[in-house]
Amino acid sequence: MKKPIIIINFKAYDTSFGKKGIEIAKKIQNVSKQYSTEIIVSVPATMIYQLSSELEIPVFAEHVDGVPLGAYTGSIMPEMIKDVGAKGSLLNHSEKRIRLDEIDDALKRLRGLGLESVVCVDRYDLVVPMSLLKPTAVLIEPPELIGSGISVSKAKPEVITRAVNEISKVKDVYLVAGAGITTGEDAYRAIELGADGIGLASAVMKARDPEKIVEELVINSLKACDENE
Ligand code: G3P
Repeated sequence: MKKPIIIINFKAYDTSFGKKGIEIAKKIQNVSKQYSTEIIVSVPATMIYQLSSELEIPVFAEHVDGVPLGAYTGSIMPEMIKDVGAKGSLLNHSEKRIRLDEIDDALKRLRGLGLESVVCVDRYDLVVPMSLLKPTAVLIEPPELIGSGISVSKAKPEVITRAVNEISKVKDVYLVAGAGITTGEDAYRAIELGADGIGLASAVMKARDPEKIVEELVINSLKACDENE
C-alpha cells in the first residue's frame, strides 16, 4: 500500500456491479493514473475477476471468511479471492462482522498468500488489539457516521487522533479513517489529523460525477500528505 491510502469500498449499491460497477472502476482508474496515485477498489466478490482482469489498480474483496477450506457453503476464502486476481481484502466491516478467531485465521492466510488486508474497527480501543494480528492496515469507522455524509474528520476528529495515537504503539500497520467522507476537505482533514489515508463508499458510489469527486479526494489527500512530511 502507498500513502495516501485511498480505499473506495463499492459495497452493494446498484452502481457496485455489472456495467455501472465497471464504469465507476474505470473512472477511478483514470484519476489514479492522472495523479500517479494508488487507489484501491474494494468490490463485491462477483466483480473481482472481471475488474482484476480489466484494471491495473488494486482490486480488493469487500470481505473474506476465516474458515478452513471444506464444507462451508457460501463462504469466500482468501484462496478464492487470490485465484480470481484480488490483491487483498477488507474484513470485519461494520456491515459484515466476523468473529475474532476468524479475523485471526483470515489474516494469517491472506499474509501467507501475499495478499494485503484491511481490518475494520468501530472504536479506537480496538486499534492496538487488531494491529497485533498484523493486518496491512486498520480502518477505523464510527458506524453511526457511515453513509451519513457527515465525515468522521469533521464530526468526530478525536476518533482519528486517538486511533493515530494507538497505532503509534505498534509497528508497520497503517491507520486509515473512514465514515461519511464526502469532500476533498474531509479527506484533507483526516490525513492532517494523522491518518495514513481514507476509506469511503457512498460519496463515490452515489455520485452523479464520481470522477470529479475522486479527483477532489486525491488532490486533497496528496496535499495533506505532502504537508505532513
Ligand atoms: O468502508 C467505507 C465505508 O464504510 C464508509 O462509507 O458511505 O460513509 O463513505 P461511507
